[in-house]
Amino acid sequence: MCGIVCYVGQRDAVPILIEGLARLEYRGYDSAGVTIQNGAGVVTRKLRGRVQGLRDLLAEQPVAGTSGIAHTRWATHGAPTTVNAHPHHDCTDTIAVVHNGIIENADVLKAELERRGHRFRTETDTETIAHLIEEAKAPTLEQRVAIALGQVEGTYGLAVISSGEPGKIVVARKGSPVLLGVGDGEYFVASDAAAVLEHTRQVVYLDDGDIAVLSPDGYFIIDGESRAQARTVTSLDWNLEAIELGGYAHFMLKEIHEQPETVRATLRGRLLFDTGSARLQGLNLTAGDVAAIRRIVILGCGTSWHAGLVGRHVLESLARIPVDVEYASEYRYRDPLVEPGTLVVAISQSGETADTLEAMRRARAAGCRIVGLVNVVGSTIAREADGGIYLHAGPEIGVASTKAFTSQIVALVLLGLFLGRQRPDGLTEAEGRALVEELTRLPQAVARALELEPQLQDLARRYAGHHHALYLGRGVSFPVALEGALKLKEISYVHAEGYPAAEMKHGPIALIDAEMPVVFVAPKDHVYSKVLSNMQEVRARGGRIIAITTEGAGELGTLVDHQLSVPATASLLSPVVTVVPLQLLAYHIAVLRECDVDRPRNLAKSVTVE
Ligand code: G6P
Repeated sequence: MCGIVCYVGQRDAVPILIEGLARLEYRGYDSAGVTIQNGAGVVTRKLRGRVQGLRDLLAEQPVAGTSGIAHTRWATHGAPTTVNAHPHHDCTDTIAVVHNGIIENADVLKAELERRGHRFRTETDTETIAHLIEEAKAPTLEQRVAIALGQVEGTYGLAVISSGEPGKIVVARKGSPVLLGVGDGEYFVASDAAAVLEHTRQVVYLDDGDIAVLSPDGYFIIDGESRAQARTVTSLDWNLEAIELGGYAHFMLKEIHEQPETVRATLRGRLLFDTGSARLQGLNLTAGDVAAIRRIVILGCGTSWHAGLVGRHVLESLARIPVDVEYASEYRYRDPLVEPGTLVVAISQSGETADTLEAMRRARAAGCRIVGLVNVVGSTIAREADGGIYLHAGPEIGVASTKAFTSQIVALVLLGLFLGRQRPDGLTEAEGRALVEELTRLPQAVARALELEPQLQDLARRYAGHHHALYLGRGVSFPVALEGALKLKEISYVHAEGYPAAEMKHGPIALIDAEMPVVFVAPKDHVYSKVLSNMQEVRARGGRIIAITTEGAGELGTLVDHQLSVPATASLLSPVVTVVPLQLLAYHIAVLRECDVDRPRNLAKSVTVE
């Protein structure tokens, strides 16, 4: 969602804040703003549009100072206008606030504040916080912030400065991620580590309820009652290249191409060749815990949910444990029947998706044990889970998830090996070893799939003008079809649907004509011959067929218009390879349609509101 970055120290704050905002722009990009605190008080520059616009505005109307707060917005309350851009001020223009999250009782608070004489200038929920702080009577800014937040319902990650207390930034967190960056005589605040990485690798993740106070002399953390809180400093192992484009036109393309390496990183140190299993120390599951599992519930949103659908095949096949896969946003508002012995697997690239987090909390309250499959180290889901598997895919900046998806599937296979080798009906040692061997070959298979890029560029040129597409697959390839369709939708704005290939007959077949490209995800597995029949059905109705098959499956000739073959691998691993051409196809179509690939309209990378 929105991105926050703040600085307090000795240096000029503006370039640091603008650079930080640019790194966070993938979190939200409808407006941007900055407030600098200096001898003139708090001075705000903000506008509708991208960070580059803010950079230009600051070049025309410069402002200098050594502390400041900044924000890039993804609108929730109030249209994306300059007025509604953060930071927001109180009536006296002495307090400025940036905020991620949603204040649920903003309307009630606003009505009361207006009755007491406050003037509101924006349609945002955030402005209420500035006025509440203005009203609060206490000696320090942090105490005033605590009083204000005591009246607020909802979620927030926020930062406040006041001209009354120069050189101080107060930060608070409830339900929206915020971290502190610890430098030498300078301190940073950010919604995620990418914004501070070029200045420091030492970060402190705030917990819900924390209020942090930063100045050039240091920082401290308290709770709402001013009791000191101890939080550990974490050293980040991400390097700067990981958040640079490195010669690629877009982060999405870079991340697609990183997949041989990111798949390798997810596997690193985890394969047990002798026993055909996986070493997953972070899981915190004893042999007794594993024996007691009666059901697995996978929770996720978006692409992570698609990985979960692959996970159902993987875990049921390897561990012989029944698996349900749930949209986290649906699960959290259901009244799910939770059997004893249910293990919940929460899948999230960011580790911050509000629905996944709340669904996981709900499952925990019902007595489930939680495993997190998360990419961002130290994120909320990672911290709240009982154990987990980090993806180690490095920062994913492109809004459309790519490398996280393939690493999530690899992590699910590792989990399947780990559980399956301990369960009585699970896979045998020989089967485990065979799968471990296949996993070692997987990065190379992904690298070879990437070599199809020139053909996919040709296909993109041919189909970029089409308005619809259908993606079909069966078994483990059905979630890949969903993922391929999602990639096309989100970055190209082309309507695309993913369907189980055989279900096509129950509706989508009516859509098929010469204008409808149909992408079949058809690796050579036990349903391959069935999928060929589904292709015949499309062919008979004049549909255009793009088939993703595996090498050695044979030529499909006139049955299809285009055939692309990816390297063969174990059936359960095939999604890691078959998704690659679909990612590249969506990417190149989006580029040809002149879409903003890394910042698709209306989307945000990390959805921290429900
Ligand atoms: C957003 C992103 C998707 C992502 C989904 C879930 O919709 O645009 O790329 O798959 O959130 O995010 P998570 O961080 O929980 O995997």
